[in-house]
Amino acid sequence: MKVDVLLGLQWGDEGKGKIVDVLTPEFDIIARFQGGPNAGHTLEFEGIKHVLHTIPSGIFRKNVLNLIGNGVVIDPVIFQKEIEKLAPFNIDFDNNLVISKKAHLILPTHRLLDAASETAKGKNKIGSTLKGIGPTYMDKTGRNGLRVGDIFSTKFKEKYQILVDKHIGILGHYEGFEYDLRELEPAFFRGIELLKSLKCIDTEVFINKELKAGKKVLAEGAQGTMLDIDFGSYPFVTSSNTITAGTCTGLGVPPTKIGKVIGIFKAYCTRVGSGPFPTELIDEIGEEMRQEGREFGSTTGRPRRCGWIDLPALKYAIMINGVTELSMMKADILSIFTKIQVCTHYEIDGELFDYMPYDIEGLEIKPIYKELDGWNTDLTQLQDFKNAPQALKDYVTYLEKELEVPITVVSVGPDRSQTLSNK
Ligand code: GDP
Ligand code: IMO
Ligand code: MG
Repeated sequence: MKVDVLLGLQWGDEGKGKIVDVLTPEFDIIARFQGGPNAGHTLEFEGIKHVLHTIPSGIFRKNVLNLIGNGVVIDPVIFQKEIEKLAPFNIDFDNNLVISKKAHLILPTHRLLDAASETAKGKNKIGSTLKGIGPTYMDKTGRNGLRVGDIFSTKFKEKYQILVDKHIGILGHYEGFEYDLRELEPAFFRGIELLKSLKCIDTEVFINKELKAGKKVLAEGAQGTMLDIDFGSYPFVTSSNTITAGTCTGLGVPPTKIGKVIGIFKAYCTRVGSGPFPTELIDEIGEEMRQEGREFGSTTGRPRRCGWIDLPALKYAIMINGVTELSMMKADILSIFTKIQVCTHYEIDGELFDYMPYDIEGLEIKPIYKELDGWNTDLTQLQDFKNAPQALKDYVTYLEKELEVPITVVSVGPDRSQTLSNK
């Protein structure tokens, strides 16, 4: 069998958690391959809303294995909180969760380094979630990191101390940055004990065996393509490869084993944190989108920046990921508008672009819009896409033509049930 991939095509928060949860019954394994607790994936069903950060979004379905791959970075403190929050739901973590021994650990000092670095950047800050993501991946590529497999070594505390001492040295260079590490360490070591009690294995060997045995795997992306370390709006990005290729390195599966690639996008566009956002609406329309769409970060609670859909960015993301089908989310939110704008090109210095050019930060980008009719009807009770208002059908058909990929799912509300098939 092949690994199907589901990932975000914009700046994150497209609704990945919801669609993974909807698709999970078709799969045996749901696997996270990159990112860490900077992610906040929301699932809603039976009147309850859940937000997951490290744990894959298949966790609520019975008989499905959830896998945290080697490409993920784990904060034992946040991980423990997540596990404890799930206690009322009788989840059998011993049998439905496995963790890669090669996943890297976020130390309390990584979080401190993240905060110190962001403070020092001042107005140029990335707008990081401050979860220690950047410093942890830096230690990974710098070959200093601690991995989950290390926690079973008798030398773990020693290794930990060597890295922490190094971090303390670096923190000393940030003038005026104060911290109390002793206050943070007990929770970290409690989290380590919890991790030790779970199944920490060589997930790359496991997943390849399972594929060979005919098991179906869905890889769950975190963040979005425009936050990818290589192809996103650098430097305002995260520190991992959020794209399809990241699945291979983050799980240990070969490129020849990638099957469907499901790309998710909102019917409009949001971004949280700093960095360029060509279609951003800094006006009352943007504010209406934020209020109607409840666009506040699932991880940090920060207001998300809102704007119209951006086809140049979407086309670029589809190209990089090899997207084979699309899910369009939050169509219900656009119901408040009588007219909808779609950005088809960027105009920069009189030149038209239909993709995101190098380093758009600081450039004067004029989005060129095509105006389409809105549907202006409540969609949240819609059961069948066939009964959708014509203007919504036209919007979907227009996007399919422009993006050259079928939109097979249209989402009309946060609940599991508010998901329409368009196959
Ligand atoms: P993720 O990070 O990609 O999993 O997305 P988030 O969970 O951070 O943000 C998506 C938000 O939109 C969550 O609050 C979801 O419950 C909500 N959501 C997802 N799909 C829809 C939809 O079709 N309509 C509405 N109104 N909300 C949705
Ligand atoms: P999910 O998986 C939206 C953004 C941050 C910041 C930049 C770098 O829920 O879609 P980091 O903490 O990684 O150093 O932050 O990336 N960011 C996200 N934005 N959704 C996310 O995850 C994000 N994870 C990181 O706001 O701009
Ligand atoms: Mg999110």
